[in-house]
Amino acid sequence: MYVLGISRVHDAAAALVRDGEIIAFAEEERFTRVKHDGRFPSRAVEFCLNQAGITLAEVDHVAFYWQRWREAVHAATVFARYFPKTLAVFRNERDGGEKSAGWVDTWRHGGGSGGVDDFHIGGAVLAHIKRTYTIGREVRDAVGYTGPTKFKVHLIDHHRSHAASAFYVSPFDSAAVLTLDGIGSDGTSTCLAVGEGNKITDLKRIKYPHSLGAMYAIVTGYLGFYPTVDEGKVMGLAPLGKDTYVEQFDDLVQLDNDGGYELDLSWFTHHTNGRHMVSRKFIDTFGPPRPRTRVTAENPVPQHYMDIAYALQATLEKAGLHLAKWLQARTGMTKLAVAGGVALNSVMNGRILLETPFEEFFAQPASADDGASVGAALEVTVGRHGLPRPTDGFTYTGPEFTEARMEKALVDAGVEYRRVDDIAAHTAAEIAAGKIVGWVQGRMECGPRALGNRSLLADPRDPESKTRMNEKVKHREAFRPFAPSCLAERAGEYFVSDYPSPVMLLVFDVLEHQREKVPAITHVDGTARVQTVSRTDNPLYHELISRFDELTGVPMLVNTSFNDNNEPIVCTPEDAIACYLKTDVDALALGPFWVQKPGAELEGNK
Ligand SMILES: [Fe+2]
Repeated sequence: MYVLGISRVHDAAAALVRDGEIIAFAEEERFTRVKHDGRFPSRAVEFCLNQAGITLAEVDHVAFYWQRWREAVHAATVFARYFPKTLAVFRNERDGGEKSAGWVDTWRHGGGSGGVDDFHIGGAVLAHIKRTYTIGREVRDAVGYTGPTKFKVHLIDHHRSHAASAFYVSPFDSAAVLTLDGIGSDGTSTCLAVGEGNKITDLKRIKYPHSLGAMYAIVTGYLGFYPTVDEGKVMGLAPLGKDTYVEQFDDLVQLDNDGGYELDLSWFTHHTNGRHMVSRKFIDTFGPPRPRTRVTAENPVPQHYMDIAYALQATLEKAGLHLAKWLQARTGMTKLAVAGGVALNSVMNGRILLETPFEEFFAQPASADDGASVGAALEVTVGRHGLPRPTDGFTYTGPEFTEARMEKALVDAGVEYRRVDDIAAHTAAEIAAGKIVGWVQGRMECGPRALGNRSLLADPRDPESKTRMNEKVKHREAFRPFAPSCLAERAGEYFVSDYPSPVMLLVFDVLEHQREKVPAITHVDGTARVQTVSRTDNPLYHELISRFDELTGVPMLVNTSFNDNNEPIVCTPEDAIACYLKTDVDALALGPFWVQKPGAELEGNK
């Protein structure tokens, strides 16, 4: 049985599940090269079908992570409750480069077919409903298929899709499940559930406007970053702040004794105008928002806003710990599976693992809405049809390319290259000698983190690695940390916990006596967002880090996604070569092929 899972709104993606196994899954942005592309995932659908070698005629079910009327009913309830202020949802502000607008504008422009995100809930509700009607046609159009089809469309609850994307692919027979995002199809922002075998049962749902995801997005916007996109930057900014506003921020989220919370809505306006904005009271208390300008050495984030980021992160962590502790006490379970955009907050995740009675932890690598396409498909196969849960990989689910295709791309690009017998050993030596290397191997990883198949790698011992990577390639804000990929069996030597973190969604403290040894991966607060790499998860990447360890005695590399700033992670050999050529990446390891720039010849290199 083939089930095609679809994600669109933002982070459009497609997934194909065959009898419970995930055959293919990738984000649309990787193919269109438009970051966070929210248009219908035509290219991703095409990839999924090609990967399985089937046409649309063979697909039995299409699963979409959004229900039709529940959101409208919920939106109407919110509209009535906060009327007449809610009349503002009909307005059509489109400032700051937003893709979405109010009801009227969305209606006039075809229901947001050009891509709408949930930054403006007013228009998004309309667009979401429209999409539940058009999904079947859009799938056919996506691949240009005009023949007969048999697939049935399933509209799956959004948070159930998130929950399924975590629990059904986790190694746990039973586990508590926590999903956190901005808003789901019935208004849910937070779902506390329990998973057992092939079944997930909800325990509690918290609904918009009470939403930790919305709160984080709103303050992200206040800090001059883009809501629903730049939350990771704010998490990286937070440790540079001080605890000046933590007590005042306590007022933003009211935690109750029953595993729930409410936002104090006097600080926000999202419940009235549908936009992710702080209220007048917030501005009167904390000052005007930071203009949405690019952060550079000449235009750094003022300390005040770093302190706000600190308070925001502390508030989220406190709420996350509160929810997790209640869920653990209520279920008595020792294992936790998490998903939803807020579950990308790896600092919160690390604290949940280390500071609650949960002993085991699993995070869906594509925790945001991209991964909910996998979850929607699994809810159909596992939840509704009782088919077995996936047993195979859920991370390296994207396209891979033959050596012939790689070589053709190199020839077409006119770059000098050579085949290397042992690409892992060769690359390890070049990184140890100071090169920054683009590493493109095997099937592309899913989710926002590069996990060793489309990665940009550097030496963690060199304090300049971070600056050099930023100057040469990434061109991103200097305050953002770079993460390590560490041999799983050696993680305990460097971090306070050696708990497996294969998808880089846990942040741990770097052991104090090791911090000087690996300055490039240690953030200003002494933490690191660790990826632990086992031989089972990724044999070639494990081999590369092992070879680096043999040369240097350090069992880790700096690992960041292989892309220029604000670009999606590279997918094809052509993408990789283009990124290599337009940036100052020193070298490229493309499958078995080695390419390097003449100017990159460093002292000590062969
Ligand atoms: Fe979501």
